[in-house]
Amino acid sequence: MLYFLLTLSLVGLAQAISVDIYPPYPINGSSTAQYTVDGPFDRPKLDFFNQTSYQWWYIDAVSSDVKQSAVFVFAINSIGASGDPASPFNVVEVNVAFEDGTLGAAAVPAGNVVIATVGDGASGIFNGTGYSWYESSDLSTFYIDINDPVNNITGSLKLSSIGPHHAQCGPATKGASLLVVPHLGWANSIPDADAVVDINFNGKPLKFTGVGYHDSNWGDQGLLEQLGTWYWGHTRVGPYGVVWFDTTDINGVEHQSGYVSKHGAVLAESCGSMSVRPTGQNSTYPPLPGASPSGFHIVYDMGPAGVLEVNITNYETVENTEPLYERWVGTSVGGIRGREVHNGVGLYEWLGG
Ligand SMILES: *[C@@H]1O[C@H](CO)[C@@H](O)[C@H](O)[C@H]1NC(C)=O
Ligand SMILES: *[C@@H]1O[C@H](CO)[C@@H](O)[C@H](O)[C@H]1NC(C)=O
Ligand SMILES: *[C@@H]1O[C@H](CO)[C@@H](O)[C@H](O)[C@H]1NC(C)=O
Ligand SMILES: *[C@@H]1O[C@H](CO)[C@@H](O)[C@H](O)[C@H]1NC(C)=O
Ligand SMILES: *[C@@H]1O[C@H](CO)[C@@H](O)[C@H](O)[C@H]1NC(C)=O
Ligand SMILES: *[C@@H]1O[C@H](CO)[C@@H](O)[C@H](O)[C@H]1NC(C)=O
Repeated sequence: MLYFLLTLSLVGLAQAISVDIYPPYPINGSSTAQYTVDGPFDRPKLDFFNQTSYQWWYIDAVSSDVKQSAVFVFAINSIGASGDPASPFNVVEVNVAFEDGTLGAAAVPAGNVVIATVGDGASGIFNGTGYSWYESSDLSTFYIDINDPVNNITGSLKLSSIGPHHAQCGPATKGASLLVVPHLGWANSIPDADAVVDINFNGKPLKFTGVGYHDSNWGDQGLLEQLGTWYWGHTRVGPYGVVWFDTTDINGVEHQSGYVSKHGAVLAESCGSMSVRPTGQNSTYPPLPGASPSGFHIVYDMGPAGVLEVNITNYETVENTEPLYERWVGTSVGGIRGREVHNGVGLYEWLGG
């Protein structure tokens, strides 16, 4: 499937393709990370991966009724990202939530990673895992093909993008910053998407349509040494596709990044005027390790476009490695203050460094 689609895009668009291969072990030396937009948006952002540099490609989808979800992480040097020396260097991680409320997880160590870049899109093969992905050169579609014999998982996930990609504080123009905090990059290729998921997870069906998302993070030094905490997430609420990234760096300084699209066009994208705060029980800010809130209150001053206000309430914890990390799916309510109130679903998390 992957090769077939790649061939199609090569023949159809006659764009230059570059292919990089990354081994399943660190290369000694100083690697160089790219933290501004320059060239293919979703490409590997490091020239090579030493013991501390890492990058992952993240994809998620949550069903319109919030009951089912799927998250995929394709990571190069997951040790640099997680700080866990027992992690495989290259790995594909899968976390799903079934309709009956149960969860499923798999982590499959990979051999060489092959990343092909065409236009702004990247496609990846994590050799030996049975997982690969294809992304179109204009970032409009993302397709994961699954044939994992070890965990008996087959099927696919497809995203059709709604709303353009963006840089940390605005449009993804050449030279725009992709830096969240020092030594942590973020490229949000697909901020909002229609998702179609059809997976057989060791005999259990995971089949839904809903809301999807894709981004990539990377860094040249271990993530947890460079981060205070983050609140990150996305939701589709009525016509609005919303992405938030509210972080603190190692000095406790807050960095806010917000993005809102409406019917596929950008309404606002900026830094410094979107606040994300925990709500309900354990709503301490800055967050306390192990203290899990009930949801989040998101307020984004979009200037002339108005003030977006969204409350998102946890439906289910879909991943939990307390006290450092928790991910939820939830229901959202909100819109632009003084106008119609909408409902939606989202997927979001907090991470403590
Ligand atoms: C990196 O350096 C270590 C320690 O000198 C060595 O054991 C290892 O083989 C080197 N790795 C590579 C890929 O050259
Ligand atoms: C990897 O490269 C980065 C960037 O040059 C450097 O800061 C870091 O110390 C290197 N890590 C190791 C373990 O050499
Ligand atoms: C992928 O794995 C297969 C089976 O181990 C091997 O024959 C092939 O050379 C590998 N390909 C790459 C690009 O590493
Ligand atoms: C794999 O899943 C199928 C259902 O899709 C099931 O029939 C089969 O028993 C499973 N195989 C193993 C080894 O568990
Ligand atoms: C979180 O809130 C619950 C309910 O109020 C409480 O039982 C629990 O102790 C709180 N946890 C922490 C870490 O504060
Ligand atoms: C969000 O929750 C706050 C606090 O309960 C409330 O004041 C506000 O009206 C809610 N906003 C929306 C859009 O529901």
